[in-house]
Amino acid sequence: MNNHRVIAVCGKGGVGKTAFTTLLTKVMIEDPQAGKLLVVDADPALGLHYALGRKEIKTIGTVRDEILRVAEEGDRQAQEELADKVDYLTARVLDEGKDFSFLAMGHMESKGCFCSVNDLLQQAISYLTDEFNTVLIDGEAGIEQINRQVVEKIDTLIVLTDSSFRGMKTISHIKEMRDEGLLPFCKKIGVVFNRTRNDVSKLEAFAKELGLEIFGAVPMDEEVEAYDSEGKSLLELPENNPALVAVRQVYKKL
Ligand SMILES: Nc1ncnc2c1ncn2[C@@H]1O[C@H](COP(=O)(O)OP(=O)(O)OP(=O)(O)O)[C@@H](O)[C@H]1O
Ligand SMILES: [Mg+2]
Repeated sequence: MNNHRVIAVCGKGGVGKTAFTTLLTKVMIEDPQAGKLLVVDADPALGLHYALGRKEIKTIGTVRDEILRVAEEGDRQAQEELADKVDYLTARVLDEGKDFSFLAMGHMESKGCFCSVNDLLQQAISYLTDEFNTVLIDGEAGIEQINRQVVEKIDTLIVLTDSSFRGMKTISHIKEMRDEGLLPFCKKIGVVFNRTRNDVSKLEAFAKELGLEIFGAVPMDEEVEAYDSEGKSLLELPENNPALVAVRQVYKKL
């Protein structure tokens, strides 16, 4: 596919990355121009599949554990080689759906000198990128994963923050990394404020001072919170839900 892009969502723990990624998924499903979509859970702690309404999932981590367990009983070398074959792993882990496909990294129980799941996820994404128009990634909390470069190339990095001191620290940190030339693989970087109340102008002033692009703000929304606490998929939110409406605006800016 000629026309494809990678969008990654990052930010400190608990800032709303998973909820935002799910709302963006919903917005992209609605857009007939968006094309084929792959949504990736790059957080080893998992959780995105619940918000997306998928109950049973396989992860790169669990499938590799399975392969390595079989290897202990059989032809060890052959199985270990298989465990590092990204096309084989991807075929077993990719959950294809009508509206979007889903891939989860997970984590591994097996110890030994195997490729890390993080490296395998990077390979799997590179391998799959051509088949999708958009790859949307829900990242692990913090900025470590960006440092480790979980994807070879990110077209748009969305840094999500709330109004907390630590949230703001994270965006300044990302800005410093960009200025020091540490993020050459990120083409475009922008900030989204999440769970805003009446504090948007203060937040915008802060981001402007830093010289970061602002993609938008998503309000504090009780319905989002309620769906999440009941384990209901955020894809089922009503069309006029205020957080969803705000994410539609963000999508236009990406
Ligand atoms: N705009 C919003 N309005 C109200 N509640 C929200 C909003 N965005 C996220 N939340 C709530 O905040 C909590 C944390 O959200 P979420 O799990 O998406 O964060 P996260 O950044 O993915 O966390 P983690 O770093 O643990 O992966 C959830 O209970 C979620 O429902
Ligand atoms: Mg999350």
